[in-house]
Amino acid sequence: MSSSRPTRPAIRYGGDYNPEQWPRETWREDIELMKQARINLVSVGIFSWVLLEPREGEYEFGWLDEIMGLLADAGIDVDLGTPTAAPPAWFWKKYPDSHPVTREGVRLGGGSRGMVSPSSPEYRRAATAITEQLARRYAQHPALAMWHVHNEYGAPVSESYDGHSVAAFQQWLRQRYGTLDELNAAWGTLFWGQCYGEWSQIDAPRLAATVSNQAQRLDFRRFTSDALLACYIAERDVIRRYTPDVPVTTNFMATNCLAADYWRWAREVDVVSNDHYLVAERADNHILLAMDADLTRSLAGGAPWVLMEHSTGAVNWQPRNIAKRAGELARNSMSHLARGADAIMFFQFRASRFGAEKFHSAMLPHAGTGTRIWREVCELGSTLETLADVAGSRVHARVGMLWDTESFWAQDLDWHPSIELDHRERIEAYYRALWELGVTVDFAHPSADLSGYDLVIAPSLYLVTPESAANLEGYVAGGGRLLVSYFSGIVDGTDAVYPGAAPGALREVLGVEIHEFLPLHEGELVTLDDGSTGAVWADDLHPTTARVLASYTSGPAAGAPAITENAHGSGTAWYVSTRLDGEDLAQLVAAVLSRSGIDADAAHPGLEIVERRSADTVYRFLINHTNADIEVSAGESPVTVPAGQVRVVRDPVHPEGTQHEWSTRHAPDSAPHVKEDV
Ligand code: GAL
Repeated sequence: MSSSRPTRPAIRYGGDYNPEQWPRETWREDIELMKQARINLVSVGIFSWVLLEPREGEYEFGWLDEIMGLLADAGIDVDLGTPTAAPPAWFWKKYPDSHPVTREGVRLGGGSRGMVSPSSPEYRRAATAITEQLARRYAQHPALAMWHVHNEYGAPVSESYDGHSVAAFQQWLRQRYGTLDELNAAWGTLFWGQCYGEWSQIDAPRLAATVSNQAQRLDFRRFTSDALLACYIAERDVIRRYTPDVPVTTNFMATNCLAADYWRWAREVDVVSNDHYLVAERADNHILLAMDADLTRSLAGGAPWVLMEHSTGAVNWQPRNIAKRAGELARNSMSHLARGADAIMFFQFRASRFGAEKFHSAMLPHAGTGTRIWREVCELGSTLETLADVAGSRVHARVGMLWDTESFWAQDLDWHPSIELDHRERIEAYYRALWELGVTVDFAHPSADLSGYDLVIAPSLYLVTPESAANLEGYVAGGGRLLVSYFSGIVDGTDAVYPGAAPGALREVLGVEIHEFLPLHEGELVTLDDGSTGAVWADDLHPTTARVLASYTSGPAAGAPAITENAHGSGTAWYVSTRLDGEDLAQLVAAVLSRSGIDADAAHPGLEIVERRSADTVYRFLINHTNADIEVSAGESPVTVPAGQVRVVRDPVHPEGTQHEWSTRHAPDSAPHVKEDV
C-alpha cells in the first residue's frame, strides 16, 4: 500500500468511517478517539454518492474536503471509496431500466443499496463520471493512501435478467463461441430440442417450466462475473489516469461470494482486500475464518492483503446475532494477521443510530468509550503497533487445496445424483481436519502451478477442464501427491460428462473407473474394513492401476473398493469414494500427510499455530481458542499462551533444516475445551 507520508506505521488499522451520518461536532471527537485507538486508516465515502452529486452532474465536495483535511491533519490515511454501490434516487428516477431483474422476473426497487444491472450503459457512465470527479479532486490529497472501488460487487444481487443484460450476454456469447454451431454444440442444445438459429433468440436462463440448459446457466454465471468485473475495471482505469501510484482495490468476500470468479478478479486489483464475518452460531467459526483468510492470501498470490471489514462484535443480519466474547475480536484479528493480512479493519468506526445497520457492532459502540469493546479496540491498536515489523512477511504452505469457482457453479445446478452432494461441505471438512492437525493450507486453482506443494487436495471437484486435468496429471507424474474425494472430475467446462467411465478427467491419474454412482439414503451409513464409516455416497469402483487401501463391508458397494492409492509417474494419487468425517477423516488426512513428508501436530486442539517469515525472522502466531492455558515449548524458550489469548514469538531464521521444532502441551491440571461459550 502506498503512503503519502514517509513515517506511516506498517500494519494498517481502522475501519469504514461514515461521517456523513453525524453532525460536524462529532467529527472532531471521532478523530481524537481514532488517535486514542491508534487508528491509521479509514475507508470514507463508500455510500455517499447522493451527497457528492445531489443532482446529475452537480457536485458538492465541501464536506468531504473538510473531513479529509481533518484526517490528514491527524495523520490518519484515507482509503477513499467510490460511492457506486448506492446510486442516488435521481439516478433511479431517470434510468429505471437500470434496475436489476431477478431470475423470477421481479424488478428490484431502490431505497436500499446494492448492484444495479451491471450491463446498464447509463450506470457505467454515471459511475465513471463520479469516480472521475473524485479522482481528479483528491489525486494530490495528503490523506489519500488507497482507493476502495464500489463495495462488495455481487452482493446482495449479482445476476440480472434485465434487457441490457440479455443484450450483453448475447454479445459475450458471440465472443466466446464465434458461431452458433459452436454454441449449440457446447450447450448440448440437441437435448430437448433447444437449438438456436439466431443470436437474438438466446435469452438469459430465466425461470422456466423445469430445469434450464445447464451449460447456459454456467455461462450466464461466467458472463455475470465478467460484467461485474468490467464495472470495476472501468472505474479503476479512470482512477489510474489520475493516481497511477495509489493502489486500487475492491473488497472481496473470499469464501462467501460465488458471484465473482476471484481468481480472475485478483489479477485486476493492486492489493487484494477482503471482508469476513463469522457465522456466529457455528462453534467452528474460527476455523472457517482461517479458511477464508487462507483463500484470500492465495488469491493475493501470497502477497500481504487487507482485511477490509470484520466486526468487533455481533452483526445484524444473521438469525441470532451472537456477540463476540471477551478477547474474540483480538483472536479473530490476529488469525487474519497470522495468515498474511497487513491491515486489520472493521465495519465500522462509530455505530450508526439509524438505518438498516443500527444493531451492528462497531469499534465505538452506542454505549461509548466505557465499554469492553472500546477497551479491546484500543488494546488491539497498541498491539498492532508493536507488530509493525511483521508487515511484508509471508506464509509458506506445503499443502494446496483446489478451489475453482466454476466447479461450485456447476455443482450447484439442478438434478445431480444426490441433494447431499455439497462441494463446500467437503472443502470445509478437509480444511477442518488440516486445521486441527496444525497444517497451514494454501488454495489454488486446478490449472495453477502446483509444483511448490507436497500435497494437493481436491475435496470434491465436479468440473475439471481438460487443461486442469492435464495439469493435475502432470503434477502427480512429476512427483506430486494428490488426494481426491468423490464426485470429482465428472464434467468438462461445458458441464458435459467426459466420455467413458467416471471420473473422466481424473481416471488415469487415479487409476480407477466408476461403473455406477451409488448415492446413499438419507442418514444411511456404510462401513469400511479399515474401521471407518462413510455417509452420503459410494461408488461401484473398479481399480485399473490403483491398489485398494480399504473396501466397503456394508451398503450398496459391499465388497468393492472404497479408498484407493495409485502410483502414477513419480507421484501418488488417492481416491476416497465416500464421505468420511471426524476421526475417520482426520486419520486419513494424517496418513496422507505423513506419506507426503508433512508433520502434523494435533497436540492441542484449539491452539492455532501459524508462521509468517521475513528474510531474517520467523513470526509464530499462537492463538489459544480454548479456555485453558497452553504451554508451548520451542527449544530453550517455553511460552505460555493464556486461555483465549494470543502470543507472537519472534525467532531468527536459522540455516536450512536447523529451525527448532515446537511442541505443545496443556498447562498442568487444566481440562481444555474448545470455545466453551459458543
Ligand atoms: C458488509 C458491507 C458493509 C456492512 C457490513 C455489515 O458486507 O460491505 O457495508 O453492511 O457488511 O456486516
